[in-house]
Amino acid sequence: MGLHNLDSSVVHENLMKHGVCFLRSSDPPQDSVADSEADDILVEFAKTLGTLEGPHPVFSPDPSSPLAVVSHSSSNPPDGAEWHTDCSWSSSPPFASVLWPRLLPPTGGDTLWLNTASAFRDLPKGMKEDLRGLEAVHDMGSFRNTYAKEGAEGINEGHAKFGSAVWPIVRVHPVTGEECLFVNEGFTVHVVGMMADESRRLLNYLFSHLSRPIYSCRWSWSLGDVAIWDNRSTQHYACSDYTGYSRRMHRVTIVNDMIGEEKIKP
Ligand SMILES: [Fe+2]
Repeated sequence: MGLHNLDSSVVHENLMKHGVCFLRSSDPPQDSVADSEADDILVEFAKTLGTLEGPHPVFSPDPSSPLAVVSHSSSNPPDGAEWHTDCSWSSSPPFASVLWPRLLPPTGGDTLWLNTASAFRDLPKGMKEDLRGLEAVHDMGSFRNTYAKEGAEGINEGHAKFGSAVWPIVRVHPVTGEECLFVNEGFTVHVVGMMADESRRLLNYLFSHLSRPIYSCRWSWSLGDVAIWDNRSTQHYACSDYTGYSRRMHRVTIVNDMIGEEKIKP
């Protein structure tokens, strides 16, 4: 079983149930396909779930391709060890992401996912009530370092490229109807209408609550594995624990949930 012959409706069903699903040692075997061929398979599969997102401001080597390449090594160490939802700073945050590793360190480099619906469900009743009326600002967050090398001009360029977005702190999943926490330590910077210190305390509380191990699972990658997740009900975290080694992951993100839209059609 591989991405090339995977039934997207089965994948969708599992995404609605679990938020993330994995293919272990997909077929064709990783070493039998060239990178470009694997990228084509990745893109073609992602298209069966919805419309693909355009190039990523930092990770897209080819501005005409939807492919994002997340590549780190000793000379370019990872700076993404934070829980996040992909592109929550966007005016249309993606429905799903598909990730296929191409180069892995001999040890480390796991990815974790957490369930934002379960985390919301466990909050105290009064707090849930308060959060339902609040919104938060998302921006390029931890990508700042990429631009900070160029000083103020670089930072301004980054802000212009990424833009900002304001989202409800609690979003209702359009297919499952579950309420999901939509703040993440990677990109959420402020709660609208709150004093700075109050906002910081609330966000820190929510980030700490979300990161409780009971809401998460952890995947140790092997070449040939593929992960597919729903960004509306999950966050993920890439472990930066492979100093001295390289890791390269190819990712495609999907803007709209084609299968889900069909299911909830009136
Ligand atoms: Fe990510």
